[in-house]
Amino acid sequence: MSKWNVYVTRLLPKPAMDLLMKHCNVEVNQEDRVLTRQELLRQVKGRDAIISLLTDTIDSKLMDSAKGIKIIANYAVGFNNIDIEAATERGICITNTPDVLTDATAELAWALLLATARRVVEADNYLRAGKFKGWGPQLLLGHSVKGKTLGIIGTGRIGQEFARMAEGFKMDILYYDIQPNLEFERETSAKYVNLDELLTRCDYISLHVPLTPKTQHLIGPRELKLMKNTAVLINTSRGPVIDEGALVKALLDKEIWGAGLDVFENEPELAPGLADLDNVVILPHIASATIEARTDMGLVAVKNILAAMENKLPPNCLNPEAFNRQKI
Ligand code: GLV
Ligand code: GLV
Repeated sequence: MSKWNVYVTRLLPKPAMDLLMKHCNVEVNQEDRVLTRQELLRQVKGRDAIISLLTDTIDSKLMDSAKGIKIIANYAVGFNNIDIEAATERGICITNTPDVLTDATAELAWALLLATARRVVEADNYLRAGKFKGWGPQLLLGHSVKGKTLGIIGTGRIGQEFARMAEGFKMDILYYDIQPNLEFERETSAKYVNLDELLTRCDYISLHVPLTPKTQHLIGPRELKLMKNTAVLINTSRGPVIDEGALVKALLDKEIWGAGLDVFENEPELAPGLADLDNVVILPHIASATIEARTDMGLVAVKNILAAMENKLPPNCLNPEAFNRQKI
């Protein structure tokens, strides 16, 4: 079998690159930046496979430019950057990297929750700015976490793990998803409620849904108004799940108490005014950014390509129909 010709849109951790290079002819974007649309259209030509990032828009035009491509392995669990339907029509397998980043992402959601509740970043900035003149009874008061009500919107792998990690905080857990998950309820004592009830009752609310037309602006002005004015909103899913302009307004008007965000509606841009607020913790989309998770994500992406090269269904294929179509 001749070696496949694979393009990687940004350099990945070494173990993944090494594995890929052992089995394939590999070309990598050598610049430490996202490729422009023109560059991407040019680079995908004549490839058997590519490893793409969530910052690469993979639409039908790009797929037509990549004639003959068999698999696009997205280096992310989310795949809202890819037109899966167009890929299926063209017999192109799309894969993602689930599981290996579940813990890292749930951990970062907790980091954001605790940092926002206890004003960790604001307090750090305060100290560095030379404002700390000694212990104060009213200095930088936050909200406690233990025993409060936690709301989880979206109970896929990450939302469930986030809930499991709450165990030590003895929280009441409410969750909302398109349907109840009884096993999850048994394991965590979480209770299924509708979205409005969750928003009204919870002290901490964390988003773990994929971005789809249905979840776009799931949290808008109406939903923010329903939330308690002591509530904290956490988002490690995708930015457009929240109407970010409405969130800035709700934070300014103290309709909610704070927000911890790892993702933004128009990354890398932030909504006007967001970065001026003290009651937000904002991170540059780093939920899966541990050495362990990023290495494993790379290995998963490569193994999907190697499976396809051997004519086997890639383990994380999101559209198996595309694979079957290749066989006809
Ligand atoms: C990161 O956002 C991912 O989807 O993996
Ligand atoms: C999917 O995004 C998950 O929860 O792993």
